[in-house]
Amino acid sequence: MSESVANIGVVGLAVMGSNLARNLASREGNTVAIFNRSHDKTDHLVQAHPEAGFVPAATYEEFAASLTKPRTAIIMVKAGAGTDAVIDALVDVFEPGDIIVDGGNALFTDTIRREKAVRETGINFVGAGISGGEEGALLGPSIMPGGSDESWVTLGPILKSIAAVAEGEPCVTHVGHDGAGHFVKMVHNGIEYADMQLIAEAYDLIRRGTGKTPAEIADVFAEWNRGELESYLIEITAEVLRQVDAETGKPLVDVILDQAGAKGTGAWTVQTALNLGVPVSGIAEAVFARSLSSHPEQREVSGDLPGPVEGLTVTDPDAFIEDVRLALYASKIVAYSQGFDEIRAGAAEYDWNIDLGAVSKIWRGGCIIRAQFLNRIADAYGQTPDLPVLLTAPYFVEALGRAQGSWRRIVQTAAGAGIPAPAFSSSLSYYDGLRAERLPAALVQGQRDFFGAHTYKRIDKPGTFHTLWSGDRTEIEAEDTH
Ligand SMILES: NC(=O)c1ccc[n+]([C@@H]2O[C@H](COP(=O)([O-])OP(=O)(O)OC[C@H]3O[C@@H](n4cnc5c(N)ncnc54)[C@H](OP(=O)(O)O)[C@@H]3O)[C@@H](O)[C@H]2O)c1
Repeated sequence: MSESVANIGVVGLAVMGSNLARNLASREGNTVAIFNRSHDKTDHLVQAHPEAGFVPAATYEEFAASLTKPRTAIIMVKAGAGTDAVIDALVDVFEPGDIIVDGGNALFTDTIRREKAVRETGINFVGAGISGGEEGALLGPSIMPGGSDESWVTLGPILKSIAAVAEGEPCVTHVGHDGAGHFVKMVHNGIEYADMQLIAEAYDLIRRGTGKTPAEIADVFAEWNRGELESYLIEITAEVLRQVDAETGKPLVDVILDQAGAKGTGAWTVQTALNLGVPVSGIAEAVFARSLSSHPEQREVSGDLPGPVEGLTVTDPDAFIEDVRLALYASKIVAYSQGFDEIRAGAAEYDWNIDLGAVSKIWRGGCIIRAQFLNRIADAYGQTPDLPVLLTAPYFVEALGRAQGSWRRIVQTAAGAGIPAPAFSSSLSYYDGLRAERLPAALVQGQRDFFGAHTYKRIDKPGTFHTLWSGDRTEIEAEDTH
């Protein structure tokens, strides 16, 4: 049996787990125990990184014995059945007061279920969203832990030591209880989908509108990255557009198959939003845009569908590019606003006390959606913690006011020229929907009452009403059936 020397352990040593273990080992005061189902990965990591001083374990028993109490282990395995298998194994060898952390991409409802089951054994279970891909895991990710206050006491200092640092603050906070961390990570990924789709639409419009090459558009994105759009995704977009394919000499973006993949977290964000009744239209369009791209059989038979006679003609490329930039910025504000709305609604539904300003701060570093303007979101929630709609904060009102002319021109131009810009268009529709003094929802209520006696409310008096549509069409008071 090994001596208990490690203050933290990692189970699952594929790319994320091994990088996270190395990150942990590189921080002062940490000794890291490691375990992987297939032992060769453990051996390989120990040999490849002797500087880390890993404490390898061949069995779960050995792993538990190598950890000081309270034992703390981070699971980084394939989400789903793999996570359940590892939890079961750890519960068998851990004791009450120990802490099991799932750092994988679990669905938050699974985390709620697992936390409840593990808590019954006296062991703490923490679902922690970890963002930043393999580089983030190694150098400093953004970490979104849920779980109990008790586990945060032990876990907090360890996670703070490995998280990214933004403006002097570690990108980790105790988000809330049980599934709160994985919920917030899920919405982070949903916003990531929207951000990426918006950038892709901006690229497409600039390319078709100005005829610039991908390398020239890379320069546009690099320039944008010096202003209010500064973010990791804009930065890597420039890198991808500049890349030349070694085999053909063409821009890499032109030889990559135009069918976008997805691992499901965007869809979870939308499914959850549908359940909560939160309109995350920008995120949904981004998820659907990937789905549309990935149906070659449908796209092939649709290629001859009629389109506009006129293509896109741009007379002033610089002005057009500035319009695209502002349309992107405005749509991005909408996507983030919708994402934060979903977190607020989730917190209300699941009884989590989530500090939205703190969430925006921990996304400033380490994660894929890290961006300069997250500071503005933190400011907005700092000033008004219960802000009902993020985009009504003064800073965003000004930005949207400045951008809306460009935003409208770009959506009109795209529609007129037959260029798909679903995320740009739906963000604008959402914005106008929020602004509208009256919505045609009144007519929808009338229709619902007509065919289903679903009742309606009136603007001029309290109560619930139904019109006797198949009778004499007089109105009666009714029970509220929605
Ligand atoms: N890749 C990313 O950029 C990224 C970013 C954020 C979060 N994540 C999440 O981080 C987690 C790890 O991701 P990854 O890409 O490093 O690895 P992965 O490919 O998702 O999973 C491979 C790891 O899971 C282990 N595993 C699978 N089933 C198991 C089981 N039944 N029992 C024990 N171990 C099992 C594998 O062990 P064997 O070696 O024995 O097969 C291996 O260590 C996932 O939940 C992923 O969603 C990934």
